[in-house]
Amino acid sequence: HGSAEISHNGHLKIGGVSTIDLAKQYGTPLYVYDTALIKERARGFRKTFKELGVKAEVAYASKAFSCMAIFQLMNEEGLSLDVVSGGELYTALKADFPPERIHFNGNNKSRGELVLAVKEKIGCIVVDNFYELQLLSEITSEMKSKTKVLLRVTPGIEAHTHDYILTGQEDSKFGFDLQNGQAEKAMKLSLESEYIELLGLHCHIGSQIFETTGFILAARKMIEKAAEWNSVYGFVPEVINLGGGFGIRYTQEDDPIAPSQYVKEMILAVKEEVSRTGMSMPEIWIEPGRSLVGDAGISLYTIGSSKEVPGVRKYLAIDGGMSDNIRPALYRAKYEALIANKADAEPEDTVSIAGKCCESGDMLIWDLPLPDAEAGDLLAVFCTGAYGYSMANNYNRLPRPPVVFVENGKSKLVIRRETYRDLIKLDESLT
Ligand code: LLP
Repeated sequence: HGSAEISHNGHLKIGGVSTIDLAKQYGTPLYVYDTALIKERARGFRKTFKELGVKAEVAYASKAFSCMAIFQLMNEEGLSLDVVSGGELYTALKADFPPERIHFNGNNKSRGELVLAVKEKIGCIVVDNFYELQLLSEITSEMKSKTKVLLRVTPGIEAHTHDYILTGQEDSKFGFDLQNGQAEKAMKLSLESEYIELLGLHCHIGSQIFETTGFILAARKMIEKAAEWNSVYGFVPEVINLGGGFGIRYTQEDDPIAPSQYVKEMILAVKEEVSRTGMSMPEIWIEPGRSLVGDAGISLYTIGSSKEVPGVRKYLAIDGGMSDNIRPALYRAKYEALIANKADAEPEDTVSIAGKCCESGDMLIWDLPLPDAEAGDLLAVFCTGAYGYSMANNYNRLPRPPVVFVENGKSKLVIRRETYRDLIKLDESLT
């Protein structure tokens, strides 16, 4: 997994740092990110576009993992940023992320969020619906501030992990329908609005997708529609944003294709469609989240209590759970793990890893082959970099874990551990 390796004494290392030392220094539960791997992924996307000779913007979908440090890292790598709330936008601005490279997605942005985005002159707002279009039109006129816009459309393709469905009129809470005239109407309204500068179209067909078919179909539909509008209305889209969703390997059962492959096949489809329709080649933007940070993150836990149900199952409990990684409970997401202080030991047992939250559904991993493990051992769970910390919560008033970056044998704390004091900071006493 990622750059994790086993040192001569059987200890798991990440980014050249022993996980045992990390656990000692920062405590557990702990999130660790290998930043060299994140940079490699970021450079990989940019390089692919460069090699294909296509003007592009790669925006990191910050919902996968957001904090000031990761925004600063993505900025250094020349990536743009996709935010979906005032909170993410605020964090990005505080991290000195260049506003002109920030894109704002979301299906119900508030007036306050839109005002902040317009005031800060961010790169573009991805307008999702007619209500928002009207609101943004008013706000930009009041503020006399030109604002760049993409229209989020639903191309009628819904991709699932291993398959995709084509629907005439997609049943989705997001975006303007591309087939039934909604998107066309939104395009005309945008062109009429004095302070809205329409750049082009945006779509996002799903997440953790393992095939290129859905992306190719979406790319074709987007270009086809753009070419049609071009000939009827003379509107030439400068930008087509094809969203994120590239799948990653969580377990041996997953078989993803290389991130560059998704991009190559999408671009091939775009180019074919562009030459077929005679339209000019737009810039292609993408918005990956998971594929940039997912496999760069691991979680470290200390094993505590255990329970044997004779002849049925052995439970091992860790010092975290659905409060720091809700994906198994929410999506039945699967992970692989090992004992970090016995990383070279052969599995002897099959155990199930229980979280410490007070509900039966808080199980992190079912039926995991592990060497003999006991209280005090360190469990390393792989591939928790995306939608792990960002979906962490304070259920049972568990403090959220800290996050450290590791690279070249060095570690740096980027989010500190929540304290009990932090837990009551919003509480007002009755007396
Ligand atoms: N762009 C838009 C408009 C999105 O809605 C998303 C993800 C992305 C980009 C990034 O997708 P990615 O490359 O990360 O797949 N919490 C779920 C995933 C939700 C994804 C929501 N949208 C999980 O833990 O699997």
